[in-house]
Amino acid sequence: MSTRKRVAVMISGRGSNLAALMEAASDPAYPAEIVGVVSDNPEAPGLTFAAGRGQPVAVANRRDHPSSDAHDATIDAALRDLAPDFVALAGYMRVLTAGFVAAWQGKLINIHPSLLPAFRGLDSHRQAIEAGVRVHGCSVHFVSPEVDAGPLIAQAAVPVLTGDTEEALAARVLKAEHKLYPIALAMVAEGRARLDGNRVVFDTSGASEKNGGQSVFSPDLTTDMRSIEDLARFTP
Ligand code: GAR
Repeated sequence: MSTRKRVAVMISGRGSNLAALMEAASDPAYPAEIVGVVSDNPEAPGLTFAAGRGQPVAVANRRDHPSSDAHDATIDAALRDLAPDFVALAGYMRVLTAGFVAAWQGKLINIHPSLLPAFRGLDSHRQAIEAGVRVHGCSVHFVSPEVDAGPLIAQAAVPVLTGDTEEALAARVLKAEHKLYPIALAMVAEGRARLDGNRVVFDTSGASEKNGGQSVFSPDLTTDMRSIEDLARFTP
């Protein structure tokens, strides 16, 4: 049994995905441990949450730096202090420099609230409603220099219901995010999903029978989120 992988989390705000990852990692059987949190926002509620649970936290405010490169250099140093095997962006809302992304290539993952490649960038839920899609969701991907365009690790879909507001849809997707991100991080930590060039190589050989080691989760339109709730464990 290999040791648990060290994971640092980067946030800018609320930190509900961070909380979901910390909750998953509180199980000693989970293949990753959260070793610290870095934020660009000193006011991020997620920082208070993490510090309250004994996590090392670091802040690098963009305003204290003359350039994005200088800012990312501070973040890079804070991360290296934590010696992570992987870095998980969880609502980190600032575009990372190409140099930073290159330095962490294959180790840097992100969650985005849409079924990529649809609806990159901000306001993905509004984009989905305006486009009239009937299925929306979230994606976990390796980070590449182009924003929200990196190779996909796992996706979860949710229905768009008639009359959905942006807020209602966001809440449904967020619930899926909290299930999906721990599953995706476990896949990466166990080497079951790894970056090879600009694609993800999947190893499903050791997977349990739960969903055959697959990394796509579909909506059950009659019971809304039940199909994702049924993925009770992080092991696909
Ligand atoms: C989440 O919905 C996450 O997918 C999104 O920000 C929210 C953060 O919530 N991330 C992005 O839009 C990144 N482009 P949280 O702070 O409660 O995890």
